[in-house]
Amino acid sequence: MKILKAEFIRSCASQEQFPTGTTPEIAFVGRSNVGKSSLINSLLQRKGLAKVSRTPGKTRTVNLFAVATDDPLLSSFVLADLPGYGYAKVSKAERAQWAPLIEAYLSRGEQVCAVVLLVESRVLSPHDSQTIDWLRSIGCDPLVVATKVDKLKHSERVSALRRLQEELGLTGSQAFMVYSSVTGEGRERLWNDLRERCRT
Ligand code: GTP
Ligand code: MG
Repeated sequence: MKILKAEFIRSCASQEQFPTGTTPEIAFVGRSNVGKSSLINSLLQRKGLAKVSRTPGKTRTVNLFAVATDDPLLSSFVLADLPGYGYAKVSKAERAQWAPLIEAYLSRGEQVCAVVLLVESRVLSPHDSQTIDWLRSIGCDPLVVATKVDKLKHSERVSALRRLQEELGLTGSQAFMVYSSVTGEGRERLWNDLRERCRT
């Protein structure tokens, strides 16, 4: 698939700034520093479009990007880079502001056609299974993407990913895939899954 356009729209610090049109939206959620912004750049093949940082807590608003592709099934849509959760050093007050913002964003019904939950291939966190439960409770069935898979040694890869799936209570390969924003592994598969979920 060819990306014809990938542009920053705006950063939303409150619900009033969320899109109101009918363009389908794809949301990326996950813990701070898991690699959401990097994955968006990798998917769109645009370095630096979403701001990446070594320091957790970089993305603090709902950042929207307008995308157009040459794929007739997914020709025009919005990507949403959401703030990461679960990072202790961000002030409590700030986190208290994000949780409702994330929830409000994701609870907008059919407009959000796919929710991609990023987890780290090497790091299991109780937060991640809680997030899956929470997403399901608000009606989202997330596509779980284990990212930074380039950090796994070849020999540990199969067992690490199996453990992760078990831990997250995910069976079969349906809603689980791997990605690396460094090597681009998983890019085609992710586009295919998003196309299936969001046919426009
Ligand atoms: P917040 O905005 O703080 O929630 O973080 P984020 O989830 O957007 O993470 P971000 O994309 O900023 O990446 C965090 C760090 O992980 C950066 O140092 C990235 O270079 C690194 N990183 C992201 N994806 C990958 C990956 O696939 N492989 C490796 N090796 N590093 C990655
Ligand atoms: Mg980010």
